[in-house]
Amino acid sequence: MQTAYAPGRVELLGNHTDYNEGVVLSAAIDRGVTLTGEKTGSSRVVVGDSKAGLRYETDADHLAPSKEQDWSNYLVGVLDVFKKNGLPVSGFHAEIQSNLPQGAGLSSSAALEVSTAMLLQKLYGLDLSRLQIAKMCRRAENEFVGVNCGLLDQASSAFGKAAHAIFLDCRAETVETIPFPKGVELLITQCGVPHRLTGGEYNERRLQCFDAAARLGAKALRDVSSAQLEAGKASLPELSYRRAAHVVGENERVMRGIEYLRCGDVRGFGELMFASHESSRHNFENSAPELDVLVEIARGLPGVLGSRLTGGGFGGATVTLLEREHAAAVREAMEAQYLARTGNHAITHLCEIADGAR
Ligand code: GLA
Repeated sequence: MQTAYAPGRVELLGNHTDYNEGVVLSAAIDRGVTLTGEKTGSSRVVVGDSKAGLRYETDADHLAPSKEQDWSNYLVGVLDVFKKNGLPVSGFHAEIQSNLPQGAGLSSSAALEVSTAMLLQKLYGLDLSRLQIAKMCRRAENEFVGVNCGLLDQASSAFGKAAHAIFLDCRAETVETIPFPKGVELLITQCGVPHRLTGGEYNERRLQCFDAAARLGAKALRDVSSAQLEAGKASLPELSYRRAAHVVGENERVMRGIEYLRCGDVRGFGELMFASHESSRHNFENSAPELDVLVEIARGLPGVLGSRLTGGGFGGATVTLLEREHAAAVREAMEAQYLARTGNHAITHLCEIADGAR
């Protein structure tokens, strides 16, 4: 028996920048997916989560996405991509254990993919770099699951480092880790509206971004500065302008955010998070009323430095940066005020920034 583990991630700044060849700041968190498994000695593949009553069986020589058991696609898709890359892999058995909430925008899907890659690597004695793993897992999500995500989730899960933020440049495909300031905590708050990226909005936003870049004569929105965007504003449909403004602004906020992290300016960093959320709400329209309420509540609480939606959006969770000594009080107040205002229960997680896959 072998085990492999891959964490979820929280996106700190740089929303929807990854597939626009841009930059992102993220962190791996101390919640994730553990896989325990072994080779089956044949092409038989059995994956499951016995606690959740899930089990799926297939043949490594005839792989195709499952519609009925779509959770299995995250694991089987990685096997499929490994095979397409000519790697010597075949049947395996894997049991899933997870303490990562699903549908919260914390990349439980990437954690499943990356943990599968780590397990296959152990079972079949492969020697892949973390970047190769992240890229193959992204390909599994793109081609087998059918979500055209960028590299953020898989790279964050693969490259996480305790007490460090991850700076990912999605064009250069480079990763740098930056020490995260001390004395602050990250509170993740699920709004209770599950986020579903297979719902079509994600791929639609992606196309709108590509269209805006083309209209601006740029290879990607990565190449557009806010000054250039303002100069081209008159020639853009209003919707394209707002979509572009979000991505261009996020890229710039990431670069400023790095400066703030380097000099320990957590207030400055927090303000960028609030600005990021406002841009999601107004420009990119990937927020949800519940997420807006959470950010608004956070903004009014002592000790809160910043708050924004994290990940794809359209539901899911917010991430709030706060001073450690206020953590317990903020958490309590968030839950109570959210319940009072919406009638829904928020689920909160105080997270540590943790190491990546192993
Ligand atoms: C999801 C995707 C990522 C990224 C974020 C938004 O998490 O999987 O690739 O695009 O949304 O930043």
